[in-house]
Amino acid sequence: MDDLKRQAAARALEAVRDGMRLGLGTGSTAKHFVELLGERVRAGLDVIGVPTSEVTRADAERCGIRLTTLDAIDRLDLTVDGADEIDPALNVIKGGGGALLREKIVATASDRMIVIADESKWVDVLGRFPLPVEVVPFGLAATQRAMAKAFAESGVSGQMVVRKGKDGHVFVTDGGHWIVDAHLGRIADAARLAGLLSVIPGVVEHGLFIGVASTAVLAGAQGIRVVE
Ligand code: 5RP
Repeated sequence: MDDLKRQAAARALEAVRDGMRLGLGTGSTAKHFVELLGERVRAGLDVIGVPTSEVTRADAERCGIRLTTLDAIDRLDLTVDGADEIDPALNVIKGGGGALLREKIVATASDRMIVIADESKWVDVLGRFPLPVEVVPFGLAATQRAMAKAFAESGVSGQMVVRKGKDGHVFVTDGGHWIVDAHLGRIADAARLAGLLSVIPGVVEHGLFIGVASTAVLAGAQGIRVVE
């Protein structure tokens, strides 16, 4: 599986050109991309990156990739990031690694987003992977009630679980928020659910990336598949 992730990352690297401003994703697949990009940078490629998490910032620095922020530059040429699920319309669930807020800010500030993954992430309908929703801790119960209403209005339901870290404590995002993982099973109308979640005050951001990705690079046993 890890080899497939690296193959997808290597294919996405072919889209990188000298002088590009890049969004650098988070997760095990995106980490392969950062490492491969670092090899190219050390061989003379001139790019600058915006990391989508503190983990990716550390990885990119270790790989010698020059970094900047979205305050210093206005647009990015390309973001390359992983995904938890990708559907045939290239709508995506992200946030399994808890970085969805910065990931969405960076991806939507980019002219293009390439999602890299192994074939297991390809699904007909989003939702088998629990939908990560980043929330403020204040008023959590009220936010979850509003989320349940949004689920009902978009025809889904399911358990909501506040994410815990490996240490057993509540997982805290880079932005100081919590993640509620919603086990919905099948999200028939992801765009509608995305819109309903976005207007809940306690929801900072959700992991539905609707119309954000422009390309998916999927690595499987039969080779690489590029969907645009
Ligand atoms: C982090 C993410 C990741 O991109 C997603 O969870 C996929 O991770 P991996 O490449 O490790 O399977 O959205 O917030």
